[in-house]
Amino acid sequence: MAEQVVADLRDRCETPPSLLREVASEMAREMGAGLEKEGGSRVKMLLSYVDKLPTGREEGLFYGLDLGGTNFRVLRVQLGGNEKHVINRESREVGIPPHLMSGSSAELFGFIASELAKFVADEEKCTAVSNAKKRELGFTFSFPVKQRSVASGTLVKWTKAFSIDDVVGEDVVAELQKAMEKQGLDMHVAALINDAVGTLAGARYYDKDVVAGVIFGTGTNAAYVEKANAIPKWEGELPRSGDMVINMEWGNFCSSHLPITEYDEELDKDSLNPGEQIYEKLTSGMYLGEIVRRVLLKLSAHSSVFGNIDHTKLKTHFLLRTPHISAMHHDETPDLKIVAEKLEENLEITGTSLQARKLVVEICDIVARRAARLAAAGLAGILMKLGRDCGVEMQRSVIAIDGGLFEHYTKFRKCLEITLGELLDDEAGKSVAVKHADDGSGIGAALIAASQSQYSNFD
Ligand code: BG6
Ligand code: GLC
Repeated sequence: MAEQVVADLRDRCETPPSLLREVASEMAREMGAGLEKEGGSRVKMLLSYVDKLPTGREEGLFYGLDLGGTNFRVLRVQLGGNEKHVINRESREVGIPPHLMSGSSAELFGFIASELAKFVADEEKCTAVSNAKKRELGFTFSFPVKQRSVASGTLVKWTKAFSIDDVVGEDVVAELQKAMEKQGLDMHVAALINDAVGTLAGARYYDKDVVAGVIFGTGTNAAYVEKANAIPKWEGELPRSGDMVINMEWGNFCSSHLPITEYDEELDKDSLNPGEQIYEKLTSGMYLGEIVRRVLLKLSAHSSVFGNIDHTKLKTHFLLRTPHISAMHHDETPDLKIVAEKLEENLEITGTSLQARKLVVEICDIVARRAARLAAAGLAGILMKLGRDCGVEMQRSVIAIDGGLFEHYTKFRKCLEITLGELLDDEAGKSVAVKHADDGSGIGAALIAASQSQYSNFD
């Protein structure tokens, strides 16, 4: 019976290349539909108002705030101008207390502003700062925002584990600015960006062939550069550069080709945002551990594979996290000692047999492989939209990826890279590279703030 549950899961999660090609084509089509008109697609294709990416000439001291990943981060970056490098970078990571993710706007932004104020005070104790200029900040806010300019935008909806009703529809920069004033912090928000946009900007600073910035972390998203005259829904004056960075918000992509199981359907139903972010729920770090937990619960309820255990922990949502399944999936000890430890520590499943542990590893493999292969199909969709998925004598195209899932889950990353190779023709396979953008959006936010600075012109 236990074997049957796993075999069924394996069948339902199959992602042959033919299915992935359908997913990629549909992603490319949805991108077009989202650019066509407001609400034209589930893939929102939001305008970022970033119309130029870093040139390497950016110079000066900038602060960054990064909200929306596992941790909240504050940073301070000294950009070196023509030397094309970051002279200095200091940062601090702070966990967001979980109650703030569903509290009020004033509480969340108050917390962020107070952490920023502490960081600024500590940093400026160590290094003298000129008072002649107002401090400038790049705010990475990793949620869907409808922007009206590069430094303002209203929250469309929360995603991932956040749900604070009184922020939806509000300008998040104004909320931050209010909170900073309460802290007596004199700082100007020069840019509001998404983490995928920041990753694109940060990576482009070092490599001009970067065509897209992608996140596979708690959530997933992608950003790329579009020709402004290829955006029918654009209403304003076309930017001088002729380009516009698009924040795709591809986490909300959905397609009848996606291999969705009963576990995914139930996870979605129980989530904070049922019916939404379906692609994200199949491919990102917040959910993979939870899918595995749901399969283990079924396995235990329908077989004696774990013996007679107490199901309290196994029934607790989100108790098994993606780092746990990653540790189990990478267990190379002959008797799967790490699997035994993780099951015991997190779910109170004790005394497992080797056969049971092997099944657990197989479940992790099925869930992570499906995620990685669907993730690769998304990347192939972007390349298709850019006309860089096939052809001869192609330009080099680099996709910069950040996020904990990509960085730490080695089997996910390897499977993603191999699958992307399978989906591209030989020529494209040689010219497309995937690379890890370390701290993409932190540096990216500082760079975009610099390019929008009220004091300088780095064009
Ligand atoms: C970081 C970026 O490196 O990756 C963040 O700077 C981003 O902006 C994050 O949100 C995503 O990773 P995770 O795994 O923490 O969600
Ligand atoms: C979610 C957010 C998106 C963000 C992504 C990665 O999908 O909606 O804005 O970029 O997570 O952090």
